[in-house]
This record gives sequence, C-alpha cells and structure tokens, in this order.
Amino acid sequence: MVRCLSVAILSLVISRGADGRGKPEVVSVVGRAGESAVLGCDLLPPAGRPPLHVIEWLRFGFLLPIFIQFGLYSPRIDPDYLGRVRLQKGASLQIEGLRAEDQGWYECRVLFLDQHSPEDDSANGSWVHLTVNSPPQFLETPPQVLEVRELEAVTLRCVARGSPQPHVTWKGGTGDLPHPLLPQVQNGTLWIRRVERGSSGVYTCQASSTEGSASHATQLLVLGPPVIVVPPKNSTVNASQDVSLACRAEAYPTNLTYSWFQDSINVFHISRLQPRVRILVDGSLRLQATQPDDAGRYTCVPSNGLLRPPSASAYLTVLYPAQVTAMPPETPLPVGMRGVIRCPVRANPPLLFVSWTKDGQALQLDKLPGWSQGPEGSLIIALGNEDALGEYACTPYNSLGTAGPSPAPPDARSGLQAPPAFLERPKEEYFQEVGRELLIPCSAQGDPPPAISWAKVRLLTLNSSLILRPLTKEAHGRWECTASNAVARVTTSTHVYVLGTSPHVVTNVSVVPLPKGANVSWEPGFDGGYLQRFSVWAKRPDRTHHDWVSLAVPVGASYLLVPGLQPHTQYQFSVLAQNKLGSGPFSEIVLLPTTEMPPPLSPPRGLVAVRTPRGVLLHWDPPELVPETLDGYVLEGRQGSQGWEVLDRAVAGTEMQLVSEWGWDGWR
Ligand SMILES: *[C@@H]1O[C@H](CO)[C@@H](O)[C@H](O)[C@H]1NC(C)=O
Ligand SMILES: *[C@@H]1O[C@H](CO)[C@@H](O)[C@H](O)[C@H]1NC(C)=O
Ligand SMILES: *[C@@H]1O[C@H](CO)[C@@H](O)[C@H](O)[C@H]1NC(C)=O
Ligand SMILES: *[C@@H]1O[C@H](CO)[C@@H](O)[C@H](O)[C@H]1NC(C)=O
Ligand SMILES: *[C@@H]1O[C@H](CO)[C@@H](O)[C@H](O)[C@H]1NC(C)=O
Ligand SMILES: *[C@@H]1O[C@H](CO)[C@@H](O)[C@H](O)[C@H]1NC(C)=O
Ligand SMILES: *[C@@H]1O[C@H](CO)[C@@H](O)[C@H](O)[C@H]1NC(C)=O
Ligand SMILES: *[C@@H]1O[C@H](CO)[C@@H](O)[C@H](O)[C@H]1NC(C)=O
Repeated sequence: MVRCLSVAILSLVISRGADGRGKPEVVSVVGRAGESAVLGCDLLPPAGRPPLHVIEWLRFGFLLPIFIQFGLYSPRIDPDYLGRVRLQKGASLQIEGLRAEDQGWYECRVLFLDQHSPEDDSANGSWVHLTVNSPPQFLETPPQVLEVRELEAVTLRCVARGSPQPHVTWKGGTGDLPHPLLPQVQNGTLWIRRVERGSSGVYTCQASSTEGSASHATQLLVLGPPVIVVPPKNSTVNASQDVSLACRAEAYPTNLTYSWFQDSINVFHISRLQPRVRILVDGSLRLQATQPDDAGRYTCVPSNGLLRPPSASAYLTVLYPAQVTAMPPETPLPVGMRGVIRCPVRANPPLLFVSWTKDGQALQLDKLPGWSQGPEGSLIIALGNEDALGEYACTPYNSLGTAGPSPAPPDARSGLQAPPAFLERPKEEYFQEVGRELLIPCSAQGDPPPAISWAKVRLLTLNSSLILRPLTKEAHGRWECTASNAVARVTTSTHVYVLGTSPHVVTNVSVVPLPKGANVSWEPGFDGGYLQRFSVWAKRPDRTHHDWVSLAVPVGASYLLVPGLQPHTQYQFSVLAQNKLGSGPFSEIVLLPTTEMPPPLSPPRGLVAVRTPRGVLLHWDPPELVPETLDGYVLEGRQGSQGWEVLDRAVAGTEMQLVSEWGWDGWR
C-alpha cells in the first residue's frame, strides 16, 4: 500500500450561472484515504471584511452540522471529525486524514447576522460530494499453504475492498490453463473441480484498481499416491554379476516406501533371493551375484499409504553357460528298437550343441551309422543292442560356453531292455450274447515284463486280460489292450459286439427345415443283434412331455420327413430305436429353429394359355414375394371335371410350351 501524505490532490469544480450568482451547482471532490481534501465554499465575498456571519457545514444523513463557527469563537465540531477539520480561505473546509467513511454529500451554509435583505438572509451553499479513494485491501484470503487430496475439489476465495472497487484476478498453477479440469475463476474465486497432481503449485490472487494493487499467494499441495518417474527397464545380466533395477517415484506426502516383487511374490519372501537383495533409498532394487533362477518379471510398488499405489515392471534376463540339470543315473534302451538318451539342459542364450562321450571317449556321431543327435541335444540310437551299452556323459554348449559335462555317478550306465511284444493279440471283432461270458486274450513279453492294461475307448479303464462276465450291453464298443514296460508301450484293439440287447442310442440327429415341415435324419446305433425300427418323436417346447407325438419311420430308413408343422413355431425332435427286445434310449433332443423356417410361398400370378400352331403356350408371373430359394414350379392340368394330374414337376422358368394338342381345359 502506497501512502502519499505530502501531496493532496483534490479537484474542485464549481459551476455557476452566467451572472456568477445563479443557482448553486453540485461539486465533486476526490481525495485519498489518509490524505486531505478541501471542500470549497465561496459564499463569503472574495475581498474585504465580510459582515458578521455564522459558517455551517452540514453532512447529508447527520442531524447536526458537523462544523459550526461563529466569529472568532472556537468552532463546534462533530466528534467523528474532531481534530481533522479546519476552515481555509473563506468558508472552505479542509478535512485531513481522510477515511473511507468520510465519503458522502456535504453542504456549506453562511448566515449573515447584520443583513436584513430577505434574499441575502441566508444563502444556501452548493452541495459538494466527497469521494474518498483507497487502494485495494483484502477482506478475505485463503491460507498461505493448503493441502488437498487428489481428485477432490478446491475453492480459493479472495475478497478485496477499496475505492474504486478493486478487480480480483488469479495467476498460477500451470499458467494459462487449457485443461478443462483446471481452475476456473469467477468473481474473485478460483475453483478446481478435481485436483490432480499437476494442480499443485503457487496460486496468486491480485486485487487491483486505479489506486493500486495487492496480492496474496497460496501454495496448493496435492496429497496423492506416488507417481513413478523412473520405471525399471528390461535388463540382461551375466550370471554371478550384480544388477540394479531402477524405480524412482515422486509423491506428496513424501514418506515413500518401495516394495519389490518377483513374479508377484515379495522379494524378501523368496529365500533364494533374500540374502542377495537390497532396496536402496532411491527405490532401486539391487541384486547381487545373479543366478539363472533369478530371471523373471520384477515389479516395483512405491507407496505412501494414499489411495492405490502405482506399479511398474521389467524383465530380468540372466545369461549363463549351458548346464546339465538332472541327468538320470540310468537310461534303459529297448533291444532292437530306437532308443533315446536325454541330456536335460538349460541355457540362455539357447543351446547350440551337445557333445557326448561314451565310456570317456568322445562320440563322433557322423561316423557312427544309426547314431544321431535328436531334439535338445538328445542322443538317438536307431537300434538298441549290446554295443550301445556303456557310460554316457553329455556336455552342452551355448554362445557363453558350458558349465561342464554331466556329472557321471559310478552307476551311470545305460541298460539294454526288451520292448513289449504281443504274444497273443485279440481278434478283430467279438460277437457274444449279452449275459454270457466273453474272454479276450492279450499277452505280451518284454524286459522288464510289460504291464497289460485294457481300456474301453472313451469309457472305463481295466487292466489284466479282458474278461467280461457277465457280458453287459455297456461292454459293447471298441477296446484297447496296452502292453508297456520301461522302454516302450504297444497297443492293439478289438471291437466287441454284445448281441441280444435292446438297440443302442442313435447319434448325429439333425433337423433340416422344409416348407411346412422338417427332414429329421440320424445315424443308427448298433441294433443289438436284431432288426431295429425307428420312430421320430416331436413336440413344441412349450408343451409338457405328455405331448410328445411319435411318428413311425419306414423300415430301413434313417430319416423322416415330418409334415404339417406350423410356420414360425419351434419344435423339438428325438429319435427312438426299437427291436424285439425293447427300445433303446431316446436320442438327444434337437430343436428346429423357427427362424430357419422359410416363409410360406404365395401363389404364382396371371396364368395365361395361348393356342399356337405348335401347341399351347402357358405363361405366368412369379409370386408377389419371390423367396431367395425358389427351386421352380409344378405344373398340373386336368380335363373336364377329372382329377388334376402333374404335367411337370420342375419347371425352371415362367413359361411352358405344351407341344401336343391335349384336350386339357384346366391348368394350374
Ligand atoms: C435554502 O435551502 C432550503 C432547503 O433547500 C430552502 O428551504 C431555502 O428557501 C433556501 N434558502 C435560500 C435563500 O435559497
Ligand atoms: C461477487 O463477490 C462479491 C463479494 O463477495 C459479492 O458481493 C457479489 O454478490 C458476488 N457476485 C456474484 C455474481 O457472485
Ligand atoms: C520387456 O520384456 C518383456 C518380456 O520379454 C517384453 O514383453 C516387453 O515388451 C519388454 N519391454 C520393453 C520396454 O522392451
Ligand atoms: C557377459 O559375458 C559375455 C561373454 O563373456 C560378454 O561378452 C559380455 O560383455 C558380458 N556382458 C556383461 C553385461 O558383462
Ligand atoms: C504417510 O503419511 C500419510 C499422511 O501423513 C499417512 O496417512 C500414511 O500412512 C504414511 N504412509 C507411510 C507409508 O508411512
Ligand atoms: C490292475 O492294476 C492294479 C493297479 O493299477 C494292480 O494292482 C493289479 O495287480 C492289476 N491287476 C492285474 C490283474 O494285473
Ligand atoms: C457325426 O457327425 C460328426 C460331425 O459332423 C462326424 O464327425 C461323425 O463322423 C458323425 N458320426 C457318425 C456316426 O456318422
Ligand atoms: C432328408 O435327409 C436325408 C438324409 O440326410 C436325405 O437323404 C434326404 O434326401 C432328405 N430329404 C429331403 C426331402 O430333403
């Protein structure tokens, strides 16, 4: 606030009529708070000794004059003005130490005591308006530091007074705010609908008028979860080296703690990592002497306890020379068959090759016919025989080299063993009456002796030579006999037909919609050893199961055309097989979708018959609504009142020439 005590600026404008004594006019005086102003009054003659008089200054709204002076007596002054007013140059009044409340209308009156002229008896002065200007001053401001939670709303209110009324503006935050969520200013109040991290900063309100300006700054601090500014990066490290994964976050409040997870398990809860891992103050993860198993996804979660903490992940790749993991102490080889000796390896970068030794001698596979390298470095021996027996060791290599050959325990020898071979196989098919016994042989030999197991294809699993006693309907089907030992597994199969049962369920029921009907077809199941007949059952889904209607199927057929169905109505279908011993189970229920029912056809129109030298030419127009699939027309004719006869079942076009003169007198 600037105060200028030394200079009093006042403007005094007095307008008078042309004769100089006319009607008094309104005068305006402007002063500044704290300074002084003179309210002019020239009712006393400018020169000479004025007659005896009383000077009064009245203020609009005050009952008594604020200033009365008679002659040389000390004036009477209103308490609000005491010590601040004195006369100056005639009857003008000087007010010092102007206050905002001094603003208002004043009137000067001079009363001449020794004059008797009525018009001069009392002269009314001019009304003077005093304006007291003041620089802006805040009545209300927000606190200097304000903490707001993220996503909440904030209101910063600056109210200022002064004369003239100051204008309040706001600056700050991110400057010229293009974001819709960023501050809006209305009538001196700044409003942020949803505070974000970026909303934090210093906001300044400024109240300004022609009299000066005042400003107030508020620091907005946004409380929220941290933001990761430096996320971890995918890293690759050579095994046994140390590695750091960065994770730097910013937050307010700044009490950050960082947690790190490997594949979603806290690193301090993984015993393999725990002694080698540290989380540094800057949030980064330091892992010492990396091992192949340390590879994986690492996730950093910084938290200050507010809302949901963010997370960032990176993958750690650990490179190491190829190494053998768990070489089996013994690998059996099947005699006379292909055998495989595996070399279980892990490597990153990937395995390049594996070298093999047999009884301490390097194996040169390209010089050994029948020996080759298989997938993942395994050794393939085309024909297992005595020569293959021995102690094998493998040494894997990748671009970083090898961790060494497979450890060779003293008993690490490959053994030669015989794969299973069937001694007795089941026949191709067995037909047997239900309730009787059915024995199906299946035996095999091998070293070690193979285990035999029987399994019904897609049904129960049995072992031993297969005895079905008593033979049941369920035993019908395909059976597999498997012989397996440590080196191989061989399989043979047979089909068992159980005779003397009710039919088996039909399969693959399908329904094709036809105009006003449907074609139901199916795959018959086994007939149980007797002739089977089928029936098709149909009902609408909204009816109860008492409403199933059965339709007989001609012998030998495996489909049925079901007529007389309502259009746009759903139907359910099921198929049942029967023989002289009874009926099999119903098939699954198949639905005829209404949407697939073609709409009913409308009749062809405008049939005309023209007699020509070559016969009769019939011509007609297609139906009003031609369906997408119109196969053709059926032409019927009749003679006299005889019955209609079909002339042609499949007319493609809309015209037909009847060559010979028939005596037809009706066509449709
Ligand atoms: C002075 O003003 C008062 C009130 O406006 C009025 O009644 C009176 O006649 C005036 N006197 C003169 C001399 O003009
Ligand atoms: C603006 O603020 C002033 C001072 O608080 C108040 O008197 C006035 O009614 C407000 N005007 C509007 C439009 O809100
Ligand atoms: C980090 O590695 C993962 C897995 O290999 C991959 O999906 C992702 O794209 C990599 N990120 C970058 C930034 O390279
Ligand atoms: C890892 O080891 C290989 C081979 O020794 C070397 O070329 C490479 O520079 C090493 N990488 C790092 C990051 O030390
Ligand atoms: C950090 O401080 C906030 C507010 O003081 C508190 O609510 C939170 O629990 C603290 N977080 C941590 C991790 O100490
Ligand atoms: C059938 O297998 C079981 C275990 O799978 C076995 O204990 C049993 O001896 C086998 N039966 C025959 C007859 O092989
Ligand atoms: C039943 O249908 C499926 C698929 O359409 C087909 O693979 C199968 O062979 C059919 N079954 C019979 C018994 O026709
Ligand atoms: C009904 O379906 C059967 C079997 O798919 C088929 O052979 C027969 O031609 C079909 N009949 C009609 C009229 O579509």
